[in-house]
Amino acid sequence: MTSSRTEHDHPILPQILARRSVRRFADRPVEREKLLACVDAARLAPSAENSQPSRFILIDDPAVKKAFGEKAFSGVYRATRWTLDAPALVVLAAKPDFIANRLGRLIQGTPFWLVDIGIAGEHFVLQAQSMGLGTCWIGWFSSRKAGRFLRLPPGVRAAMVLAVGYPAKGWTPGPLRRLDNEAFFSWNAWKK
Ligand SMILES: Cc1cc2nc3c(=O)[nH]c(=O)nc-3n(C[C@H](O)[C@H](O)[C@H](O)COP(=O)(O)O)c2cc1C
Repeated sequence: MTSSRTEHDHPILPQILARRSVRRFADRPVEREKLLACVDAARLAPSAENSQPSRFILIDDPAVKKAFGEKAFSGVYRATRWTLDAPALVVLAAKPDFIANRLGRLIQGTPFWLVDIGIAGEHFVLQAQSMGLGTCWIGWFSSRKAGRFLRLPPGVRAAMVLAVGYPAKGWTPGPLRRLDNEAFFSWNAWKK
């Protein structure tokens, strides 16, 4: 059997190209099986020292979501209250571990747990995209109030939120505004 597919023609690229932040959602719940498929994709993400610091808290109960939003999207974070129109919110929490994060960071300087949570979150996002769901990363929320609402134990931080749902009818993806390759990378040395 012949195939026109080359080793560089991976099916993930169309998903990456099609993904945009979705900020208008259909009034339709997201099936839990789909959320669980996204969670599974996130769970399989790599992490520094395989420390797996990320924990995902899925909020799909409308009453819990509303109560969470009243805390997390209050005060200076009010601008993010629109996320409550999303049928599901996912709180990305993490407990930075001792070896990869306290010790590693002391010597190396990079907060690996934030990298870990970013990778896991984007696995979730791309799996969601591939199933027709829309997502938006949300950094503008009160991590302190979110943590208190969710009763996160000491040392665990609510780092990010993902809004998840089916895009609203009529929603169309905006332009993909990105650096071109020329600006984005260079071979073998920093390009001045
Ligand atoms: C770490 C991070 C934090 C973000 N926080 C917010 C936010 O608080 N509110 C919001 O509307 N969008 C937020 N976004 C979405 C970005 O604005 C969006 O990804 C960017 O403008 C590129 O657009 P696109 O996702 O449609 O390609 C965030 C994205 C990332 C990666």
